[in-house]
This record gives sequence, structure tokens and C-alpha cells, in this order.
Amino acid sequence: MNRADYLNQFNFDKSLAEEVGFNPYFQSIDSGMGAHVQLQGKSLINLGTNDYLGLSNKPEIKAAARAAMEEFGVSMCGTPIVIGQSALNRELETELARFLKQDDALVYPSCYQCNMSIFSVLATEDDVILFDKNVHSSMMNGISLTKAKWRTFPHNNWQRLEDLLKITQDRRMRFIVFEGLYSTGGDYPDLSKIIKLAKKYNAFTIIDDSHGVGILGDTGRGVVELYDAFKEIDLITFSLGKAIGTFGGALAGRGQIVDFFRYSSSMYFYSTALPPGIAGVTIKALKYIDQAQEERGRIKKYANKMYEALKEMGYTLSESEHPLFSVISKTSQETFKLTKQLFERGVYVVPFIPPSVPKNSPRIRLTFNAYLAESDVNQAISVFKEIKEECPDII
Ligand SMILES: Cc1ncc(COP(=O)(O)O)c(C=O)c1O
Repeated sequence: MNRADYLNQFNFDKSLAEEVGFNPYFQSIDSGMGAHVQLQGKSLINLGTNDYLGLSNKPEIKAAARAAMEEFGVSMCGTPIVIGQSALNRELETELARFLKQDDALVYPSCYQCNMSIFSVLATEDDVILFDKNVHSSMMNGISLTKAKWRTFPHNNWQRLEDLLKITQDRRMRFIVFEGLYSTGGDYPDLSKIIKLAKKYNAFTIIDDSHGVGILGDTGRGVVELYDAFKEIDLITFSLGKAIGTFGGALAGRGQIVDFFRYSSSMYFYSTALPPGIAGVTIKALKYIDQAQEERGRIKKYANKMYEALKEMGYTLSESEHPLFSVISKTSQETFKLTKQLFERGVYVVPFIPPSVPKNSPRIRLTFNAYLAESDVNQAISVFKEIKEECPDII
């Protein structure tokens, strides 16, 4: 291939956006998170954020970020193993471990990086990784970096998982990988089934509960709290950039394992550490999560109200009773057209099309947050009703 042909192949296909006359991705938002976001001079009701508890723009949280940054500066300008580990970062790790009832935790600059690192540390060619087909791209990319064998099982299909566990008994270790609250469906797995299978077939369990931490369970400890499975899951990973309201990612588990990551995970120790200001404010944010029962109740109420209203109107919805669910379309074109209508009528949402989601279910994800008032939810419901009546061709 000559150089010109080589360069020409990097031409991303945007024909879908061109056909619909609208590209929903990489929108440039002119505000922080809130009940509304400002976009090209317009204010849109925010049903797109993962800032579920409304922490990222809370005055006390911003003040804590400023104070930590004032004391430690903007960055440690170094990797954790060199001179990048602030006392606040270590304190955050201790607090996260306490929060999830684990021995220890390790903080990465992002959960993507954290998930990418797992199997390079834990698995060898003698192992097998069994993962739910709906896990996040960061897990899949991490799996692809190892020499371990891997097999995927259909979403939440325990019979298939058991079949795979049975036929992989000759492997040194079997890893079972799944999410907590699934990020575009809003459902979660039956942990009791996974734990039972892991015990029976001698497997190591890894959950990414980026979306569940902060919003599920009485005290917001996520799906693991719903099943009181703090001692049963081997490794919990989660993003700090969702309900926790800040930035970064972490893993938590047995002290010995976390310490092994600390010294063996090059994606952790050779990358500039999470800024100390972010570590400091995350310590503060965790204290709100403990007490956010009112917010958790309210966003669940909003989601239920919207879910029932859209179901009644005839929209196809993912099965969920939680503060995130999706409106499923038949084609990616329909998803883009519906998103365009919602944007034009003042509702901000996030569309997902294959390969981010299965081929047959492109979707618009709706997430609910504590900044919203009931009137915002009512307004968004009216917009969906208008679209249903005025644009029957796209639903
Ligand atoms: C389930 C899940 N895991 C991991 C990530 C990555 O998290 P971060 O943004 O902290 O890298 C995301 C982000 O969308 C996610 O939804």
C-alpha cells in the first residue's frame, strides 16, 4: 500500500449523521452539570448525565476541590511510583476501601485504565476469562491484552456460564467478569447465582459497578450491597466520574491482591496520578453518598414516572426499575432521528448505536439526576408525547 492510500483509509464513516443531518456525538456543552445543560445558546433538560446525585456542581463539593488544589497544587506531575502519590490519594484509597467494606483500594486516573490493567496483572496463558457479552469496552480491551483464553456468555445467561465453567476446569483459574448496574440497560445480574457458581467451580469474580456505586443499596454501595456480597466478590472496579461526581477509577478487594496491583500494574504506577485536588474532593463526595437517601429515592421516583409514561405511549424500553433505562429503536437511523427531535425540543439524552450496544437494539439512554425537579420530568414526558404524535415514522 502506498502512503497516500494508507492515510486515506483513516476517514471515519459519518454517513449516518450526514443522512439524518445531525451528529449527536462530541457536543460542546457550555455549562457544568445541572437540571439543564446549555448547548448552542439553548437550555436543554438534562437526561444525559451520570452525575446521578448532583454532586459535581454542588457548592460544597466545588469548595472542597478548591481547598485541596490550593494545598497540593493542580498535579503532582509524576507517576505514583516516582513522586506522584499525594497523601490525599492514599487517604482516598483508604476511604474507598472502607466505603466498599474491602481491605484496600487502588486509585487510577480512570476506570477505563483500571479495567484495562486487570488481566495483565492477574491472568496468564494458563487461565480462562469468562465474560458477559455486555461488559464495557474497557474490560474487553483489557482482556484482549492478555494471553489468557477467553469466552463470552450471553447477557445474564447462567446456564451458559455454568456450561463454560464445567468445560474449563483444566485451566489454572477461571475468571467470571460482569457489571453491576449495566450502563445502557439499567438491569443488574443475580449476584447470588454468580457467587454460587464461582464457589462450585472455583472461580475468581470481578464486577465493574461503575453505574451502581452511589445509587443502588440503602447506603449507595451498589449491587454488592443489594446482595450483601462484600466478602464474596474478589474484585470490585468502579468509576469515580459517575454518581461519585468527580473523576478517576478504582479497584477494591483483598489487601494482598490490591497490593500486588500497586506494585505490578504498570498502567497504574507509570501514569501520572489522579490530581490531588480530585482525590481530596472525592473523599468529601463519599460522605454525601452515605447520606443521599433522599436523592436516591427521588431519582428512582423520576425514572419510574418517566418509564411508566413512555411505556404507556408505546415506546420500547429496556427492562429496568432504576435511575437509568433506554428507549430502544429498530435502526440506528431512528435512534439518531429521535435524538435530533429531543434536542430540538429541549431534552438532552445520549444515543448508543452498534458496536457500543447489540446490533438489534440501538437506543437512547435516559439517566435521572438529583438536580432535576419534577416539573423537568413532566416537561420531558410531554416532549416524548409530542414526538410520538408528530413523528410516527421514527418510533
Ligand atoms: C461500566 C463502565 N465501566 C467503565 C467506564 C469507564 O470509566 P471512566 O470514565 O472512569 O474511565 C465506564 C464509562 O462510561 C462505564 O460505563
